[in-house]
Formats: sequence, C-alpha cells, structure tokens
Amino acid sequence: MAEIVVVSDRADAGALVADEIAALVARRPDAVLGLATGSTPLPVYEALRPRLAGVDVSRVRGFALDEYVGIDPAHPESYRSVITREVVEPLGLDPARIRTPDGTLEGIEHHGEDYEEAIAHAGGVDLQILGIGTTGHIGFNEPGSSFASRTRVKTLTQRTREDNARFFDSIDDVPTHCITQGLGTILDARHLVLLAFGEGKAEAVAGAVEGPVTSSLPGSAIQLHPHVTVVVDEPAASRLAYADYYRYAYAHKPEWQGL
Ligand code: GLP
Repeated sequence: MAEIVVVSDRADAGALVADEIAALVARRPDAVLGLATGSTPLPVYEALRPRLAGVDVSRVRGFALDEYVGIDPAHPESYRSVITREVVEPLGLDPARIRTPDGTLEGIEHHGEDYEEAIAHAGGVDLQILGIGTTGHIGFNEPGSSFASRTRVKTLTQRTREDNARFFDSIDDVPTHCITQGLGTILDARHLVLLAFGEGKAEAVAGAVEGPVTSSLPGSAIQLHPHVTVVVDEPAASRLAYADYYRYAYAHKPEWQGL
C-alpha cells in the first residue's frame, strides 16, 4: 500500500518531498524528475531552492505530466511557461533537458508517441510528483481513463475547466483539450509522490487511497504501484478511514526505510 504521511502544513510537505528529491539528485546527478503543475507542488519547488543551491543540477532531466492543447506555448498559463517559471528558472535547471508534452495543434496526433519515446529514451522517470484534481484526476487523466493509457489527447471535464479558470481571464479561455501522460505512463515511474492540501481534496484523496481501484477515480491507480508516498495536510486527510493507523505507522517507521 501507499505510505500516507499526514503533515501539519504545506511547508512541511514541501520540506519532506524536497529532502527526498535532493537526496535523489545527490545519488544520481542525471535523475529524471516527473514534474507537476497546479498550485499543489509549489511548496516542493520552493523548498528545493535552498537544498539544490550550490549543487550541480546541469544533468537533471525532467518531464511534465501534461499540457493544454492549442495554447500558445508562450502563454503565461501554458504548462511549458509554468514549468519554466516555477521550476526550471528558480532551480537553475537546463531548459533543454526539461520537456513538456507538445500541445501545438500541428502534428498533435503524433505528439503523445514522441513524448513516450523521449521518456523511454531517458530511462524512465525516477520520482513523479503528482497533485490530484477534484475529479480525482492525476495528470489530466479524467474519470474513465484507462489504467493502461499512455500520453495522449484528452477532453477536459467542465469541472476541471472551472477549477482551472482561476488562471485565465474567463472560463471561455480555458482550453477544452489537453495532452497528458497516461495512467500507464505514470505507473511506470519508479516512485510516485502524491500531494494534496485542503478539504476540497479530501474526497479525491480518500477515493484514491482507500476507495475501490476504478477508472472512475483515476487517482486510485496509485494503489497498483509498489512505491507510493501520499503527503497530505489534516484537512485533505479528513476523510481517510485509517488516518490514525497511517499516523501510527509513520511515527513508528524504521529509520532505514526512508520515504
Ligand atoms: C490540474 C493539473 C494536475 C493537478 C490538478 C490539481 O488540472 N493538470 O496535474 O494535479 O489539476 O491542481 P491544483 O494543484 O492547483 O489543485
């Protein structure tokens, strides 16, 4: 099962996950990071800054989970721009080594396959950061996504477009389609780290961690992975039936285990 870590706030979550990533980069200077957008991973990127300061990160590679289709890559809310602004620049990564799926319309039918090839060529993702949407999506794998799915174009649910409208002038500006790593792609990463904060995520977290494994709640795919860490604050943990057990297990965890 996944290890569930209930933390007191976002900063603690960021520090915990950033420690793990910094250790990975120290061990493996050409580590392949799976990067996520949205507000959830921001404390991780923030906590990584001091931890990677002075570290040679020139060989670190990265793959973002998803991108909007048809958005100008230069648009400030394209995931390419977000990853550049929130991750690549502040951490001093080599932009040529950090990829996002190509959401440009021309040739879109091949972009998923190209992305899969690039990930495979890099040797796969070492650590994949994940947020979770209120629909239970990871990446942009909306309900109904196959557990075997690979990087492909998907239609966004209206709920997700409404959730993401805060980043745009109006909901009409939120793209209707995306290109996202599939659940099968995500499950190939060697370590999944899913973060969630706030009560609005409590239901999705409970479904992902404790609910039945179902494509109706794509985040539940994490139950099929052998190495998952779920980091949640108290409100996001509030609907977990076994929260006390998770707290107990984490408090009594043997030191040699690591995350
Ligand atoms: C977005 C992204 C997901 C993200 C999720 C939650 O639509 N495609 O990768 O995990 O929705 O976003 P937030 O972290 O802002 O709540």
